[in-house]
Amino acid sequence: MTDTKLTNTKKLHVITWGCQMNVYDSGRMTDVLAPLGYATTATPEDADMVILNTCHIRDKAAEKVFSELGRLRAIKQARADAGHPTILAVAGCVAQAEGAEIVARAPYVDIVLGPQTYHRLPEMVARAARAGGTVIETDFPAEDKFDHLPDSTTPPGVTAFLTIQEGCDKFCSFCVVPYTRGAEMSRPATAILAEAGRLIAAGAREITLLGQNVNAWHGDAPPAFTSGTKTSWTFGRLIHALAELPGLLRLRYTTSHPRDMGDDLIDAHRDIPQLMPFLHLPVQSGADRVLAAMNRRHTTDDYLRLVDRLRHARPDLALSSDFIVGHPGETEAEFEATLTLMRRVGFAQSFAFMYSSRPGTPAAGAPGHVAEDVKARRLQTLLTLLRDQQADFNTSSVGLTMPVLFTHPGRRPGQLSGRTPFLQPVHVIAPKSLIGTVAPVTIMEGRPNSLAGALTLTPNLELSCA
Ligand code: SAH
Ligand code: SF4
Ligand code: F3S
Repeated sequence: MTDTKLTNTKKLHVITWGCQMNVYDSGRMTDVLAPLGYATTATPEDADMVILNTCHIRDKAAEKVFSELGRLRAIKQARADAGHPTILAVAGCVAQAEGAEIVARAPYVDIVLGPQTYHRLPEMVARAARAGGTVIETDFPAEDKFDHLPDSTTPPGVTAFLTIQEGCDKFCSFCVVPYTRGAEMSRPATAILAEAGRLIAAGAREITLLGQNVNAWHGDAPPAFTSGTKTSWTFGRLIHALAELPGLLRLRYTTSHPRDMGDDLIDAHRDIPQLMPFLHLPVQSGADRVLAAMNRRHTTDDYLRLVDRLRHARPDLALSSDFIVGHPGETEAEFEATLTLMRRVGFAQSFAFMYSSRPGTPAAGAPGHVAEDVKARRLQTLLTLLRDQQADFNTSSVGLTMPVLFTHPGRRPGQLSGRTPFLQPVHVIAPKSLIGTVAPVTIMEGRPNSLAGALTLTPNLELSCA
């Protein structure tokens, strides 16, 4: 390696908020900037470029962005005083939704870019270096960003994300995602299989397929899988093809919509051992009137029947969900119905949110907004129940032996961290050589948010078994 290459290296600091897709996107933005000489750094103080990748899902999103930008502005100024310019970029869903306001309120930001324009980042960096003022790109371009993003050069961890679907056409009453991520699109199966192959070759052992409605994925069968005739693949079929990739030990996907759980996907949970028995399936509410007002287009009964079918296919399937309390018009009885549904299903884990009014969404203009203190009380009640359910689930794991995929060193010396099939974090004293492998672990202790276990030592123990 020559010194020229080293001195040409510029530093990039990426701050990521929001969902797993933003985590994936931050990786792709890093990849697209690598050919320009940018390598990542852990602090903004020594970064030639800082990207703030934002989330707009709930309240105060924009305020949080402006407050962080204030901090970054001071760093940018201090660097400028020392003779080092800094390019400051705001990406993600707040950039998409509030791009103009960012330009107006934070003119020191150099680039504002929406989620569908990340492939244009190098060109924006060049424009920002030339022009004064902010470069803003928040259109939904005609070209597909995935066709223009380079293959990743950053090695994945043992677990990797892979976006296969993006955008949403469901338009739930409360949600900004259809406006910030755009219309539903599925990436071609050929590109997905190729990216999964590269991730595995670079060391990934578990892949989580990502999409705002991941199970709405559909596409043409890759030519290698057809005899010349054009056929379509469902998400279930794609999972079968991915499970055949050598070296891939585990597959997961998130987030699914209950309306898009096809029969073949349910069957895949029965038939594919690599598909982990854990499913995040948001229901949002347990009251049919609220579900209709939310435009979820399923009833509680539809959801419960779906859960029964899934559990019939895979009896040990653990479920998690998202809940919103205090959607406009939600009565006390309707909130109680949500608790009833939670008890009926028995979730392994869940997320609960107070309804947060998002400008431009149908629910924002609906009558019957629920008072903040009522929402706060309902949230506390729901959180108590979901913590109890999670604690029960973790306690019920004690004494069982489970295959654990070891992902990284734990906090204590000699310890490794990994995940059970049910996504529970587990801490075990184990040699570092087990990172990236699956080994049987006996669970000794169930804590509220994690498990502690010990390697199961049997005479025939095969430490790298799946
Ligand atoms: N696509 C996924 C989830 C997207 S957002 C799905 O359809 O389930 C993640 C979660 O944030 C949602 O499931 C919902 O529970 C919550 N959420 C979205 N908008 C919200 C809002 N305006 N107020 C409160 N919670 C919200
Ligand atoms: Fe938002 Fe509903 Fe789409 Fe999920 S399905 S991203 S909650 S609009
Ligand atoms: Fe947030 Fe956008 Fe993801 S609003 S949850 S970063 S899709």
